[in-house]
Amino acid sequence: MLILGFTVFLSLLSVGASAFPPPIVYQAPVTLENIAVRASSQLLLTSATSPTLFTFDPTAVNGTFTAVHTFPNVTSLTGIVEYRPGVFALFASIINATTRRAAPNSTSLWSVDFTAQTPLVREIGALPQIPLANGLTALPGAPDVLLCADSLSGAVWQLDARTGAARVAIEDATMLPDGPPPATGINGLHIRSNYLYFTNSQLGTFSRVALGFKGGKVTAAGAVQRLATVPQIAGKDQQQPDDFALDARGRAWVTVHPGAVTVFSPAANWTQTTVLGNLDGNDTALIHPTAAAFGRGSAAQRETLYVVTAAGQVVALDTSGY
Ligand SMILES: *[C@@H]1O[C@H](CO)[C@@H](O)[C@H](O)[C@H]1NC(C)=O
Ligand SMILES: *[C@@H]1O[C@H](CO)[C@@H](O)[C@H](O)[C@H]1NC(C)=O
Ligand SMILES: *[C@@H]1O[C@H](CO)[C@@H](O)[C@H](O)[C@H]1NC(C)=O
Ligand SMILES: *[C@@H]1O[C@H](CO)[C@@H](O)[C@H](O)[C@H]1NC(C)=O
Ligand SMILES: *[C@@H]1O[C@H](CO)[C@@H](O)[C@H](O)[C@H]1NC(C)=O
Ligand SMILES: *[C@@H]1O[C@H](CO)[C@@H](O)[C@H](O)[C@H]1NC(C)=O
Repeated sequence: MLILGFTVFLSLLSVGASAFPPPIVYQAPVTLENIAVRASSQLLLTSATSPTLFTFDPTAVNGTFTAVHTFPNVTSLTGIVEYRPGVFALFASIINATTRRAAPNSTSLWSVDFTAQTPLVREIGALPQIPLANGLTALPGAPDVLLCADSLSGAVWQLDARTGAARVAIEDATMLPDGPPPATGINGLHIRSNYLYFTNSQLGTFSRVALGFKGGKVTAAGAVQRLATVPQIAGKDQQQPDDFALDARGRAWVTVHPGAVTVFSPAANWTQTTVLGNLDGNDTALIHPTAAAFGRGSAAQRETLYVVTAAGQVVALDTSGY
């Protein structure tokens, strides 16, 4: 999540989407925060500055950006994940864009069920305990167990998608923000082969921890391993990893503020290769990328990485050559 200064970015983009070369597939009128992909290939997009969940069909010639649902009394939607086939969970809250803090008691967990004829939206529960619910993921094989990154308290929370019950599952120094708000600690998180992978934006790190699951409780089954640290460039904006997508080879496609998508490869000891934008952050086609996800459906969709940015860009990268 990066919300600061989004209005500046949007005004820079007033020339409109047609002025950009590919791979921008859509220029949304709002900042974009997170992305989930339906089995139908449709993208679900959240915005940290809008209470509306949007959908975009990347397979349509001129896909339209349409509202799915507007959540009451909130300003921001953050993490979103499919936790049962066709059923997604997401966070709704009131977030102050300057302090990047959620207003006390403003955060709640919602479910959006696309298996119904029209999407069925219901509040799962309030999460007054969590100061900044950011990334959200689901524990494979345990349909209603969600894990959430709390960027302010530097913890991973376990959430029950049926009841909204919440408990701290893992706390570690690698998850803490390195300073007071708006410093953001643990941000994106995803599970692969029993490991929880996560970024820490302020520390610039990408780490993992083995997960245990006993008696309904998620725990750390080992020490956190710091896998990689993004390099900083003297005199430039701080490089901050945000959310990411894991591919079939275990590589992480990480969005890095201010303007890059970087692949972290386990086969090469987590060496980093920038594949979109650059570390100078001056590529106007990728302004503050916030999240990435692989398409679903056809083989071509599954090899397409969709990246969203705080400037509202939806970018598609064909990863088949990488
Ligand atoms: C898509 O949009 C472009 C630009 O506005 C337009 O020229 C084209 O006819 C549209 N294509 C379809 C299939 O609607
Ligand atoms: C939204 O907030 C208003 C004012 O506090 C309150 O009256 C209303 O019931 C709330 N709506 C929902 C759906 O929570
Ligand atoms: C956000 O927080 C700042 C600093 O506390 C405050 O000055 C500002 O009024 C807040 N903005 C909103 C919209 O509440
Ligand atoms: C938040 O909720 C808790 C528990 O329900 C309550 O004690 C507290 O007063 C609430 N805080 C605010 C600011 O509403
Ligand atoms: C992998 O990288 C880490 C630090 O980035 C280093 O300490 C370690 O020696 C490297 N391992 C190999 C096998 O190159
Ligand atoms: C981005 O910044 C670098 C370093 O200042 C410069 O070499 C490069 O030409 C810039 N690229 C663009 C597209 O402005």
